[in-house]
Amino acid sequence: MLTQTILVTGGAGFIGSNFVLQWLRREDGTVVNLDKLTYAGNPGNLETVTGDERYRFVQGDICDRKLVSEVLQREHPRAIVHFAAESHVDRSIHGPDDFVRTNVNGTFALLEVARAYWTGLGEVERAGFRFLHISTDEVYGSLGPTDTAFSEAMAYAPNSPYAASKAGSDHLVRAYQHTYGLPTLTTNCSNNYGPHQFPEKLIPLVILHGMQGKPIPVYGDGQNVRDWLYVEDHCDAIRTVLARGRVGETYNIGGRNELRNMEVVETICGILDELRAGDPVMPHSQLITMVTDRPGHDRRYAMDAGKIERELGWRPQETFATGIRKTVEWYLAHEGWIAQVTSGNYRRWMAKQYAM
Ligand code: NAD
Ligand code: DAU
Repeated sequence: MLTQTILVTGGAGFIGSNFVLQWLRREDGTVVNLDKLTYAGNPGNLETVTGDERYRFVQGDICDRKLVSEVLQREHPRAIVHFAAESHVDRSIHGPDDFVRTNVNGTFALLEVARAYWTGLGEVERAGFRFLHISTDEVYGSLGPTDTAFSEAMAYAPNSPYAASKAGSDHLVRAYQHTYGLPTLTTNCSNNYGPHQFPEKLIPLVILHGMQGKPIPVYGDGQNVRDWLYVEDHCDAIRTVLARGRVGETYNIGGRNELRNMEVVETICGILDELRAGDPVMPHSQLITMVTDRPGHDRRYAMDAGKIERELGWRPQETFATGIRKTVEWYLAHEGWIAQVTSGNYRRWMAKQYAM
């Protein structure tokens, strides 16, 4: 008998932790979180639910088939929601090995174990089971200024080792549905922002450096475009796809919030000017520092979220203006969280990446 339990991988990271918290607020059933706790995984993101009887944490690697198999046999989940990944493009440029290991080999291992588990279920349970793979818009490559937004029908053209490893995992998921009938779904989402994002990514990095009076690094000419979505809206879309998505389909998710990096940085500086008028460097935009560009830097991403909107009725609730203000306020109110995640390893990464 399948339980109402779901297994989440990578639930201690940025999006995964927001998803676990939202799930426990909005859905029934238990969440089992399998996370290796790499530098990006932080159990503190889930401290408010550690005593909750509907939440269980297992520290482990998705590449560890024996462990994952034991978790599936013990918990009998009705779904796997697969977030676990190496996620930072710049780190994939410095060291792609971990990206291929976790994103490609790890997803492959997870699919193999999930297939064995699913094959052993009864007929009704097999029909109800879902494997939901969380992926990215970066698999589609880069757009020119007037190109139409990425649709699900577009060919993959990944440009960074990160994007290539995610594309590889997407192809494996597709093949497991096509060949073995494993009931998979894939979501490809644009850039997320919100609470718990590790401050190696643009938005939390700008907030932190603004708060601390440090240079705010902007790559290249600052005109690269990203399509920003508040993390709670992404989590809501994932729950929607899990509940009503058609097996074997992929769904693009995006906020229709295309912004140049410089616009994002200036918006955050403006909010900081308002909320931290006493900071030593005012206005905060004086901290903006143009730095060497990211190698192979994709120029523009834009998502056509028409399919999920039409077929499943999902719509984002936050505009960029409302979401970014909430996000800045969250970081300002969580200096303890910041101190915890910006320890030794983080400082070594910053020194390596921004040595120029
Ligand atoms: P993150 O780096 O914040 O978190 C990743 C989590 O996975 C961490 O908790 C880490 O400990 C865990 N993990 C890494 N390797 C593991 C392994 N081998 N076994 C088990 N756990 C492991 O990432 P995120 O930004 O929350 O992204 C989550 C997922 O969403 C990723 O698959 C990413 O590709 C995708 N995605 C992210 C964005 C974004 O803007 N952040 C947008 C679209 C899609
Ligand atoms: O598009 C979805 C993807 O968004 C996810 O799949 C990735 O996991 C996630 O990391 C994110 O990738 P990006 O490379 O777009 O995000 P990042 O925050 O690293 O950078 C956003 C933009 O800001 C990008 O154009 C690079 C630029 N940038 C980034 C950093 C860290 C800067 O100008 N300066 C910086 O210091």
